[in-house]
Amino acid sequence: MIRINENYGKLASSYLFSTIAKKVREFTEKNPGSDIIRLGIGDVTLPLSPSCIRAFHGAVDEMAEEKSFRGYGPEQGYDFLREAAAEHDFRSRGAAVEGDEIFISDGSKCDTGNFQELFAPDIRIAVPDPVYPVYVDSNVMAGRTGAFREGRYEGLVYLDSTRENGFVPAPPKEKVDLVYLCFPNNPTGAVARREQLAEWVAYARENRALILFDAAYEAYIRDPEIPHSIYEIPGAREVAVEFRSFSKTAGFTGTRCAYTVVPKCCHVYDASGKAVPLHDLWNRRHTTKFNGVSYPVQRAAAAVYTPEGRKEIRGLVDYYLENARIIRERLAAAGYTCTGGDNSPYIWVRTGTDSWKFFDRLLTEARVVTTPGSGFGRCGEGYIRISAFNDRSRVSQAMDRIAALS
Ligand code: MLT
Repeated sequence: MIRINENYGKLASSYLFSTIAKKVREFTEKNPGSDIIRLGIGDVTLPLSPSCIRAFHGAVDEMAEEKSFRGYGPEQGYDFLREAAAEHDFRSRGAAVEGDEIFISDGSKCDTGNFQELFAPDIRIAVPDPVYPVYVDSNVMAGRTGAFREGRYEGLVYLDSTRENGFVPAPPKEKVDLVYLCFPNNPTGAVARREQLAEWVAYARENRALILFDAAYEAYIRDPEIPHSIYEIPGAREVAVEFRSFSKTAGFTGTRCAYTVVPKCCHVYDASGKAVPLHDLWNRRHTTKFNGVSYPVQRAAAAVYTPEGRKEIRGLVDYYLENARIIRERLAAAGYTCTGGDNSPYIWVRTGTDSWKFFDRLLTEARVVTTPGSGFGRCGEGYIRISAFNDRSRVSQAMDRIAALS
């Protein structure tokens, strides 16, 4: 008899963004012709930049010729992209990362979801609350939690991210083995200052713990004091893995390209306490289960690092940041308390009422899709997340509609 992984029974029946998509679908079926504005899932709307498109086309043409055709590429990614990322995203900021410490992949959602499989089933895990659901759900699937009760899984250590701590939790008093951090934060839009990240690095070093640092939104940081990478913190290379994505930086949500940095000096431990290089483990996993991102996509991603590409990408991010500014200002003027949106594409809005009820009200009365804060965890109750990824005129229209409600 083929039996199921019972851990799936502990999960909510559908993934947060699938639940929202279903609600929106049902609403539009009942209200055909409704003009819905989508500020829910963080999906970009602007096209790929001209440099990326040129490189993409060029690489497709290479695939059309026998002389330049390519079959399987290296599973870890082509050196041209790994080297460019190491140089421009890290070394230019004084963070020592080598090209061969970078693993190119088809998305940070997959990498942050898959990384946990390198670790023992009984490790202690800390996650912020609210949190990007993938970190939690992937550990539930792997059997590292108990049941879901009162909005939380038994066995996880939740780090409350609240107004009181500026949505940046400090390390816990207790000892954990694995910590997920995401800055700029999804969903709150909060950023972590250097000394806050330094506390986390010190905690990880002291406890022989590992930090999984999701920096998918780093391109949105405009405050020069805020670190873009955890490797800007001395000592982080030994205790942290970093996830980067071209999705929100360069419009690759549909094209798919991301990468994960696993420094060669980062170690984890076997049952006897012997240190094992994490790079070797991830390399083993990656080469076994992944066959590389397509050559044209990697060429398109590498174009992000050319002088023209960098300018164009900056323009894309600036566009969404201006949307975020408009959302923040308009909501503040309408009497809402908001955070995020200055170094991040997400605005975290206090609703003063149940998150899902507020979500429903915005959907049915304003025809605006958002994301209910409670979908990200118990501490998200009473908030919604608004994404700045949409066309400027649609963002303004959405703000008009929300202001008219209040
Ligand atoms: C979000 O809206 O939180 C993101 O778009 C989800 C993702 O990147 O997978």
